[in-house]
Amino acid sequence: MKKLLGLLVLGCAAWFMTELVPPEPNATPTTPVKWTSSQQCKECHQEVFAEWEDSWHAKSWIDEDVIAQSDNFSNKVCIDCHAPRGVFETGVGNRVLPRSSRRAEGVDCLACHLLPNGGVAGTISMPSAPCKPEAILDLSRVAFCAGCHDQHKTVTQWRETPMADTGPDCLDCHMPFRNGDPNRGRHHGMAGGHDLNLVQSAVTLEAEREGDQILVTVENVMGAHSFPTDERSRAADIFWRPVTADPDARGGWTHLHRIRDPYRTEVDIPSTLLHALASQDKTGDSPRRTIGFAPPQGAIEVALFYKLAPYYRDPSDGRVWKTEEVTDPLMDSSLVHRVVVP
Ligand code: HEC
Ligand code: HEC
Ligand code: HEC
Ligand code: HEC
Ligand code: HEC
Repeated sequence: MKKLLGLLVLGCAAWFMTELVPPEPNATPTTPVKWTSSQQCKECHQEVFAEWEDSWHAKSWIDEDVIAQSDNFSNKVCIDCHAPRGVFETGVGNRVLPRSSRRAEGVDCLACHLLPNGGVAGTISMPSAPCKPEAILDLSRVAFCAGCHDQHKTVTQWRETPMADTGPDCLDCHMPFRNGDPNRGRHHGMAGGHDLNLVQSAVTLEAEREGDQILVTVENVMGAHSFPTDERSRAADIFWRPVTADPDARGGWTHLHRIRDPYRTEVDIPSTLLHALASQDKTGDSPRRTIGFAPPQGAIEVALFYKLAPYYRDPSDGRVWKTEEVTDPLMDSSLVHRVVVP
């Protein structure tokens, strides 16, 4: 009798299971039941995955500068955004929580797309797609980037500009449609300061003579947020040197001006960022700044260099240089613009 009951129970359980969990018509044998790693998305979203893998989001945990400045993440607060849990877990615009596993994936697919219900956030709901994306408007909003990117007020600055009403927004400039075609989705490379072309488009450099002075003018023409943005991680420097007929015979560069927001510990250094609007700058003269100086007679060249890390380091011994000691800015910076004043 007990045996019969047992069989009956087993039979019922088997029937229940087939009834309650029908086979998924659209799932492939490889569709995971639970999202635990960005590697799971790779198989079906190869193009997006390749773009992301090449982006700085994917490198946020293995980035040498971050490792150096966080003392190999012994400073635990740095883990929060550089190996984050999901944005939707704490809510769009709020600070993300640190992840305890697979930190090497950095800011990954799950950090941006995983929903608290275990589903995937997308722009349109597609119940028939294997990953069943749900339309979540917040994914496309500026506030979505803010939880990690407003620490140094990039998003706040943009919100004060006319672009907040008219666009373009963060996605338009940093996540453009592939080949400009909205049907092709958005490029996940998210270019920023590492992309020289983008940096060149942000700012202009001009120089002209006025009496025995040379006036050098830099201007933030991108107008969306400060130049450079995310501030303390970046700097731009203006240098000049005399022009000689033989370019190889030209001497060292002389430092003229630095554009940067100092770290909290650098109390003597004023912020010299080129803000998007004059009202965002305490000195009131940005987004345009003119620096005058009187070099010796003869033609000179003036150049703007962009630095990913705000210190000059001697590549041989790692010693940190003072800006005035630097004679070859190209050692660890990129040339953005150069003008010659005859
Ligand atoms: C088994 C294949 C498969 C896997 C695995 C998969 N997806 Fe998808 N996903 C699809 C298909 C098919 C679509 C339908 C649209 C398309 O062709 O891109 C889709 C659509 C989407 C969309 C919606 C596109 C839109 O226009 O809004 C998002 C977002 C998305 N997937 C994210 C992910 C993420 C993140 C992962 C990993 C956590 C993932 N997917 C895993 C197959 C998959
Ligand atoms: C609130 C989120 C957040 C926290 C917390 C955070 N970061 Fe970042 N970090 C970012 C964002 C966003 C960027 C990209 C923008 C930029 O370059 O500043 C970034 C970029 C950087 C960069 C520049 C990377 C490069 O490729 O040049 C360094 C270095 C860095 N962070 C170090 C740190 C250190 C050290 C800590 C801990 C003291 C830390 N971060 C904590 C969000 C964060
Ligand atoms: C830093 C956040 C972020 C990361 C990381 C990220 N995405 Fe996205 N993704 C977005 C946003 C924002 C959109 C929606 C943009 C829009 O409004 O069209 C999006 C759109 C998509 C879409 C829709 C179609 C398209 O190509 O635009 C797919 C599919 C997708 N993501 C998959 C992935 C996968 C797979 C990964 C990991 C390899 C990933 N995403 C990593 C933010 C992110
Ligand atoms: C979960 C936190 C997080 C979110 C959300 C996020 N980012 Fe980032 N982002 C980072 C971190 C951390 C870095 C720095 C990575 C590094 O270089 O170490 C970064 C770097 C960048 C960079 C700089 C790339 C470069 O060349 O240095 C850009 C541009 C960027 N993010 C754009 C966006 C945009 C646009 C959004 C909104 C769609 C967004 N991010 C959402 C954390 C985030
Ligand atoms: C009109 C186009 C435009 C818009 C809109 C825009 N940006 Fe940028 N962004 C740029 C350009 C150009 C640069 C490169 C120059 C610089 O670093 O300031 C840049 C640089 C960045 C960087 C790189 C910083 C680094 O350390 O490498 C981040 C992060 C960033 N923007 C985030 C955002 C966010 C978040 C928004 C939305 C609030 C936004 N941007 C809106 C054009 C734009």
